[in-house]
Amino acid sequence: MENQIDTQMEQRKGRRLVLFPLPFQGHINPMLLLATILHSKGFSITIIHTNFNSLNPSNFPNFTFHSIQDGILESEASSKDVLALAKLLNTKCVEPFRDCMVKLLSDVSEETISCLISDAFFYFTQAVADSLRLPRVVLRTGGLSSFVVFDAFPLLRERGYFPIQDSQLEEPVAELPPLKVKDLPVMDNVDPDSFYEIIAGMVNESKASSGIIWNSFEELEQSELDTLRQEFPNPIFPIGPFHKYYLTSSSSSLLAQDQSSISWLDKQAPKSVIYASFGSLAALSEAQFLEIAWGLANSNQPFLWVVRPGLVRGSEWLEPLPSGFLETLNGRAHIIKWAPQLEVLAHPAVGAFWTHSGWNSTLESICEGVPMICMPCFTDQKVNAKYVSQVWKVGLQLENGSDRLEIERCIRRLMVEKEGEEIRDRISKLKEKAKFCLQQGGSSLQNLDSLVSHISKLES
Ligand code: UDX
Repeated sequence: MENQIDTQMEQRKGRRLVLFPLPFQGHINPMLLLATILHSKGFSITIIHTNFNSLNPSNFPNFTFHSIQDGILESEASSKDVLALAKLLNTKCVEPFRDCMVKLLSDVSEETISCLISDAFFYFTQAVADSLRLPRVVLRTGGLSSFVVFDAFPLLRERGYFPIQDSQLEEPVAELPPLKVKDLPVMDNVDPDSFYEIIAGMVNESKASSGIIWNSFEELEQSELDTLRQEFPNPIFPIGPFHKYYLTSSSSSLLAQDQSSISWLDKQAPKSVIYASFGSLAALSEAQFLEIAWGLANSNQPFLWVVRPGLVRGSEWLEPLPSGFLETLNGRAHIIKWAPQLEVLAHPAVGAFWTHSGWNSTLESICEGVPMICMPCFTDQKVNAKYVSQVWKVGLQLENGSDRLEIERCIRRLMVEKEGEEIRDRISKLKEKAKFCLQQGGSSLQNLDSLVSHISKLES
């Protein structure tokens, strides 16, 4: 068996993969993990990255890095408009990315490049890959469930769901049960046509690719996988959860992770702490921030809260908190700028995760069996929250945005009441399924084998 694996690895030597992550934290992490997984399967790895949110090559000595000048201006980079930035990246990167690929392909001293693996949101790369006759495989960093909804956008548009009307928020989306109109993965305060254009680019160029990789697992999203396998012409590979492959992987964090959170957690009782973090992009108004602060404080549970600089619009960091807020809590609260989230979720003191329902956070919480309180902000987060609360039933969703009384009540339901016990029980079972899919014969490992043989057969 071992000899057979060695021979397979030997045959793949001389095969290089070029990976191109979208430069946002929630996209960089899974792409770098995927690189580590594929490297362990014998491929050489080249990462092309933008100089916006550029990566630190010294964390990944086994990979080759190439930085491209994306031409993103300081003012564009610091704008909070993620949609505009994604669009800009898809236009400004075309030439530098193409030039970089041409150079890589013409370097005869390098191994043959089997394919490009790009983030699904870098949809411009399909045309570049086609023009260079290079196969392109896509990594979709979100879940399959939200992708099914994105794929249905043309139909939903035809049937008059967009732009979303406030009066229809509570109505069911008959085409996509159990979603209601309010769960549709849109973004508030952006031009709907621009948003629609980006989603269409992401979906259509994923369909045009030579295959799609997902950081998810079959047992979690089986019916969505069946739907996509029926509708998509190309192969689909759910091979997650990436971070549970137990390979030694370096950190791809753009911000320094504050380790004081772990020593603080060490002093707390088992399953007593609420960990609150809203990912790398979400932004809150000052009023929302204060409701969250009081909701946490009034819950009487200890809490570890990530307040990322820039989380509160118009503030540097914690200025909106009333003076003496932390002191009155007598050590019951620990606030940091960025956490080692994987370690935090795996810590025995953590009893619940109050999350914005980004896909990585959702998957990371499931893998540690930590039940969630969901407060989605935009796009796929809304679908993820619905699945957590109503399909997998492993968490609760805050229904009225952020209201301190509802927050307090929600925390009690999850951490103190019987309902919470049932939720905890369900997420423990899901955690076991997540573990099982990475054991010998498990679905993700089988899909990974199929992916490796698929890539090995791609001809450039
Ligand atoms: C974005 C989108 O918002 C999300 O909807 C989409 O699914 C992926 O891209 P983000 O908002 O950053 O991602 O959330 P998430 O997907 O949860 O990714 C955040 C990553 O940062 C996670 O891997 C998490 O472990 C890490 N993180 C978060 C930290 O390391 N420390 C923290 O304090 C918070």
